[in-house]
Amino acid sequence: MENLQDKRKIYDKSELLEDQIKKEPIEQFRDWYHEAEQEPHISEANAMAVSTLESDGCPRTRMVLLKAYTWEGFIFYTNYDSRKGQALAENPKACLHFFWPGLERQVIIKAHLEKIPGNLSDGYFASRPKGSQLGAVVSPQSQVIPNRQFLEEKLKNLEKKYENKEVDRPENWGGYIAKPYEIEFWQGRPNRLHDRILYSLNENFSWHISRLAP
Ligand SMILES: Cc1cc2nc3c(=O)[nH]c(=O)nc-3n(C[C@H](O)[C@H](O)[C@H](O)COP(=O)(O)O)c2cc1C
Repeated sequence: MENLQDKRKIYDKSELLEDQIKKEPIEQFRDWYHEAEQEPHISEANAMAVSTLESDGCPRTRMVLLKAYTWEGFIFYTNYDSRKGQALAENPKACLHFFWPGLERQVIIKAHLEKIPGNLSDGYFASRPKGSQLGAVVSPQSQVIPNRQFLEEKLKNLEKKYENKEVDRPENWGGYIAKPYEIEFWQGRPNRLHDRILYSLNENFSWHISRLAP
């Protein structure tokens, strides 16, 4: 057994008080996201965990990259036939999670997910380097494959096929927008008395703000 009981960190970098926060959670997210981008120890501030509910009733989490956020929600791209794609087809809800250790902060977002319109996915796909475009075509994401060679051979063939041609977005690849209905901002504080501010969407589509015990 490796005992980690004595590993302890004091969180004392910042605070999150009601008189400092924004009325709209997306504005609060934008402030924190910009600070995370500036923090030298955070290499991918836009990396987030996405949890979906699988048919066995167990949530499954994986990292993806946030590629945009708007007043409506948070956008990431993936393969629609992947394991997360299948989970979302059954239950189009997810929990997104950001942890920015250098700032002692986490953000937890519960959201309804929708595929974004195809033309928006086309636009993003076209902006990607050709290698990434071909990677998306080659990979039957989340399926069992015989070996690594299977991917490399497929890639080699496609590189030849598309040498002088543009790569079209595969139909099963595109973006999701996660439209939030709950966003919690967590700021680590001394003595484990952390700040937790929860924004919940009301029936009239305004945000109710409350404080949760740590
Ligand atoms: C930092 C990081 C960023 C990632 N970004 C993406 C992404 O934007 N889209 C994606 O489909 N997979 C991304 N992945 C891979 C996923 O974590 C995952 O392996 C893949 O999407 C298949 O997940 P699924 O089988 O649960 O659907 C990323 C992995 C890491 C570690």
